[in-house]
Amino acid sequence: MFRIGKEEIKAVKQVIESKDLFKCNGGLQETMHCEQEMKELFGADNAILMTSGKAAIIAALVGCGIGPGDEVIVPGYTYIASAMAVLATGAIPVIAEIDETCTIDVKDVERKISRHTKAIMPVNIQGFPCDMDALMKLAKRHDLKIVEDACQADGGAYKGKRLGTIGDAGALSFNQFKIISAGEGGALLTNNRTIYERAFIYHDSSAVAYFGGQLDEIAEPQFCGVEYRTNEIAAAILREQLKKLDGILHDLRKNKKKVMHALKKDFRFIPSNDINGDCGTTLAFAFDTEAQARKFAAAAGVRGTLPIDTGKHVYTRWTPILEKRGAFHPLMDPFKMDANKHLNHNYTLDMCPKTLDILARTVYVGVNPDWSRADIRNLIEACKAAV
Ligand SMILES: Cc1ncc(COP(=O)(O)O)c(C=O)c1O
Repeated sequence: MFRIGKEEIKAVKQVIESKDLFKCNGGLQETMHCEQEMKELFGADNAILMTSGKAAIIAALVGCGIGPGDEVIVPGYTYIASAMAVLATGAIPVIAEIDETCTIDVKDVERKISRHTKAIMPVNIQGFPCDMDALMKLAKRHDLKIVEDACQADGGAYKGKRLGTIGDAGALSFNQFKIISAGEGGALLTNNRTIYERAFIYHDSSAVAYFGGQLDEIAEPQFCGVEYRTNEIAAAILREQLKKLDGILHDLRKNKKKVMHALKKDFRFIPSNDINGDCGTTLAFAFDTEAQARKFAAAAGVRGTLPIDTGKHVYTRWTPILEKRGAFHPLMDPFKMDANKHLNHNYTLDMCPKTLDILARTVYVGVNPDWSRADIRNLIEACKAAV
């Protein structure tokens, strides 16, 4: 989270004073306004605020009709929640390599498509845009859905379109570590009416009709869902955060480009599928060897990290998935379901060697939109001194 302050405090105060924190009571209707503002800002036909980014991914997959018997291709480098979201629908995540951009490798996705594949999940990790043109083309050729995980890329873009709005559905996250935040929260974006209706029914126990008449125009038959409904306090915070989003992105991109420009003769950066749409949150240095990367990351003033070391973002650390415990009850475990027995879940620690190699030779340095000139100068000098 980058910028939060008096505007959010005022907005929360108003909600509390209204004594109406539930989204369907006809109070300030912060959730409804937030969804409307999000649709306009992102250029999406539909938006649903939810309790988390993972909730939004699951609802998007449910909306796409994904379930037992289906494979969904996810990159081996993403937060574990992306792959777990697939399991939550009863489907099986098939794990693909990333390429030098640190996003899903389209060629490997193509190799992993089987007759059971129903969807691809591009993940715009660290705000890096995926190769959406190639993925969309591939999906069209094989009649697959695209569910974009843009949880680390709120507001980012690919060729002028916001990440999360290019495929069939997309998910944003607003947890503490994201570009904009309400502490926790997420949103589903989609231009597809059927996906929207199913996700809407799913995210609210199918009960919204009862509370607020919001399902009155919904044609899809109701089914049993879960409870991912958001509340008016989170929505009020997010309305203020949305107003700040493009300013944050502008300054992140400006600061990232300043550092990259100053260091372009001394360093190699990972390639980008769209540097102008990149969120700018992360400088990503590419090295030839892990030893070089580790030396640079540890140098005074650089404060670098290697993505290979990041907690649950590398498939080798997805313990419950690698050990195939897909649910709390065996009969609900996708790995044990008859419909999934013949699917591709022969996971091994070395199944994506290219991913492990790239992540071990890359160094991330976090960017802040509010860096001073001196902050930028100090970082540039520290990087130059480190080689
Ligand atoms: C790539 C990615 N996908 C999904 C999620 C899940 O988001 P949330 O924590 O809001 O459920 C995260 C959260 O960190 C993430 O980084």
